[in-house]
Amino acid sequence: MNDTRTLPVALFDSGVGGLTVLKALQQTLPGEELLYLGDTARLPYGTKGRDTIVRYTLLAARLLVSRGAKMLVVACNTATSAALQTLQEALYPLPVVGVVEPGAQAAATASRNGEIVVIATEATISGGAYQQAIMRICPEARVRGRACTLFVPMAEEGLMQGPLAEGLAHHYLDDIFSPAVTAPRPDTLLLGCTHFPLLQDALQKVVGASVRIVDSAATTAVCVAEQLARMGLLRQDTTQGRCHFMTTDNKERFVRTGSLFLGSPLHNADVELVDL
Ligand code: DGL
Repeated sequence: MNDTRTLPVALFDSGVGGLTVLKALQQTLPGEELLYLGDTARLPYGTKGRDTIVRYTLLAARLLVSRGAKMLVVACNTATSAALQTLQEALYPLPVVGVVEPGAQAAATASRNGEIVVIATEATISGGAYQQAIMRICPEARVRGRACTLFVPMAEEGLMQGPLAEGLAHHYLDDIFSPAVTAPRPDTLLLGCTHFPLLQDALQKVVGASVRIVDSAATTAVCVAEQLARMGLLRQDTTQGRCHFMTTDNKERFVRTGSLFLGSPLHNADVELVDL
């Protein structure tokens, strides 16, 4: 009989952004086997309508489930915002974890004055999931959302630092963070898109050193670890877990940009081209 505990934890994102969550999972749960899908053929999700995002998300999730998984991590804020509940219902009893609640928790813990800015895709911001999740944890917080659509292709292009990244950050954020803006000043910037952590240095320069920048990767990994432990699903083997990567388009590009997101080289042989 198959032991469910040996199955991989499956993750997916529209592209390589979810690799920031995979990296945090590897650090928190080094023994787990991981199965990652980047739906690069349909990227970006963040400018699409809700119904389309839900449809794409279900396709990606079903592919991962067909490979065998003991948990699904929606390593994409846009997909989590639009489709977490749908996925949880469709895949029940498989546990499905999203990145929005853990991200909201990270921001609520980091903020001292309750002035929080969330940057994310257009779909995530207009859906309001982050704003609501933070307010549930911290009702006195003031949460402002800002869609930063162009950060996604910029990060996918590997342009994480320098004048272009900083210029775009000024374009999106100066009216909130520039020193000329009078109080109340936000003390926390939440990166509500898994593509954004790689832009952290450029963002920090623009918003100022006093602003805490947080994302959902580490808190999601803790959440996954707790849930696996609670369900008795942690892998018992003490050897390092392996990772298998899948992409729906252009394997070479996934290898190139994925390596940047992982901070270690990916190889062609590690990545499988799939169709949904
Ligand atoms: N990485 C996705 C997220 O976390 C968004 C990228 C996209 O627009 O597809 O929201």
